[in-house]
Amino acid sequence: MHITSSTAAIVTGGASGLGLATARALAALGAKVTIFDRNEQAGEDAAREIGGLFACVDVTSDDSVAEGFAKARAAHGQERILVNCAGIVAGARTVGRDKATGAPRAHRLADFQRVIDINLVGTFRCIVGSAAGMVTLDPIDADGQRGVIVNTASIAAQDGQIGQAAYAASKAGVAGLTLPVARDLMSEGIRVNTILPGICETPMMKDLPEATVAALAANVPFPKRLGRAEDYAQAALFLIQHDYMNGECIRMDGAIRMGPR
Ligand SMILES: NC(=O)c1ccc[n+]([C@@H]2O[C@H](COP(=O)([O-])OP(=O)(O)OC[C@H]3O[C@@H](n4cnc5c(N)ncnc54)[C@H](O)[C@@H]3O)[C@@H](O)[C@H]2O)c1
Repeated sequence: MHITSSTAAIVTGGASGLGLATARALAALGAKVTIFDRNEQAGEDAAREIGGLFACVDVTSDDSVAEGFAKARAAHGQERILVNCAGIVAGARTVGRDKATGAPRAHRLADFQRVIDINLVGTFRCIVGSAAGMVTLDPIDADGQRGVIVNTASIAAQDGQIGQAAYAASKAGVAGLTLPVARDLMSEGIRVNTILPGICETPMMKDLPEATVAALAANVPFPKRLGRAEDYAQAALFLIQHDYMNGECIRMDGAIRMGPR
């Protein structure tokens, strides 16, 4: 899709990390960007920086997401681009051991459910809400294209590590829905693709010790560094702009393959 100054775009999780870099890249191309995020302060700051709009949205809430779409569309018109970046990372073993006592510790089901709710159901909720609006648009090219959606899974969808049952399941769900949703929307001229990022340097990683980050970077075949948010934004723009990319899940990971830990 060709991005112009009349193209409206929504980026969920756009207040930070991969979403923020994508919001900046879209705005730099002239798009009218609305950031959906639950972090109000960071979202307002980001929107101001890129000359866009912020909507305080929690992707786990039907009402909140509907209000976000209404606010974005009132200001910018119906979006043709949706990038889903809102998500959380979480770690717990299926059954672990308490470090001090050695007692078994079972994964809390509520924790599993929460990761699925945000990363998987939240992504699908935004896809449904956005596509329901996109279908009302006139096609903009000879192919009959109306809109494009980019989702964010993770290489954990394929190489889930110890402690990643919930996270990997949520991301495998996002990868898994990509083709069927692209097929559901093919007759409406809406493309759907998903990026599986490797390990990227974002605020999500800020709690990791420096030595752990260095060890992670050393394991990347090439380039020997963590991914940058701008690398992700470049991949998202590619999928948005390349009209023959559809129903695809692409890894963006410097060729890393994760082991069990
Ligand atoms: N950073 C990585 O290495 C990496 C790797 C693979 C996949 N990912 C995925 O990329 C996406 C973006 O991650 P990031 O590294 O930029 O993280 P980040 O923490 O910097 O940004 C995530 C944003 O999502 C927002 N968010 C979280 N829950 C939300 C909710 N319920 N409603 C609305 N907004 C919500 C947060 O407020 C935050 O601004 C996530 O889905 C993450 O799982 C990240």
